[in-house]
Amino acid sequence: MKVLILSGTPKHEGLCCSCVDAAQAGVVKSGAECEVVRLCDYKLTRCAMCTDGWGACRAEHTCTFGDDGFSVIQQKIANADALVLDTPVYWGDMTEIMKAFFDRFRRCEAMKGDEGAMAGKPVLLIASPGGSGNGMISCLEQMERLCRHLRANIFDYVGVNRWNQNYKIAAISEAAAALTKPVK
Ligand SMILES: Cc1cc2nc3c(=O)[nH]c(=O)nc-3n(C[C@H](O)[C@H](O)[C@H](O)COP(=O)(O)O)c2cc1C
Repeated sequence: MKVLILSGTPKHEGLCCSCVDAAQAGVVKSGAECEVVRLCDYKLTRCAMCTDGWGACRAEHTCTFGDDGFSVIQQKIANADALVLDTPVYWGDMTEIMKAFFDRFRRCEAMKGDEGAMAGKPVLLIASPGGSGNGMISCLEQMERLCRHLRANIFDYVGVNRWNQNYKIAAISEAAAALTKPVK
């Protein structure tokens, strides 16, 4: 069992990083393989909306501009058995880098239906609003919609803020460990 954690934070420490660390610890504790991809380590561009809006990605399932790191991450997702998507809440949504990546990924993979790279795979969604605490639900809702388009199975939704972080971070570790144990 291989678990891929995708992190949308631009930071190297803070609440979102604590969530990533907890998820990684939970996966490792369960004995599964774990890789963390920090999306900000790649120079990912936004979707170019090629030609009339539907580019080659619709039929070919790859991005014309994939050599910016996009194709590498697309393949890592295809190779994973389960995923964790972890983002700070920015403007009530995923961070711009996570949005930019998934805007392109969805175009490549959604048209593959049940053959898509995330189709049928369990996904743990984590959103951490750090300021007002607002926007957690709308962020998780956007992530849920993305997973529906990609036919992924949402394993759980975790919202973490400054007030609940002590017990939620412990819960993330448990959730990530449980993600690796398919329920019969
Ligand atoms: C551009 C931007 C927009 C943000 N929007 C929100 C928001 O809508 N709601 C909220 O509670 N926090 C918001 N924040 C705060 C982040 O959610 C916060 O930095 C982060 O989740 C806290 O964790 P961190 O320590 O990982 O940064 C925003 C931060 C930035 C930089």
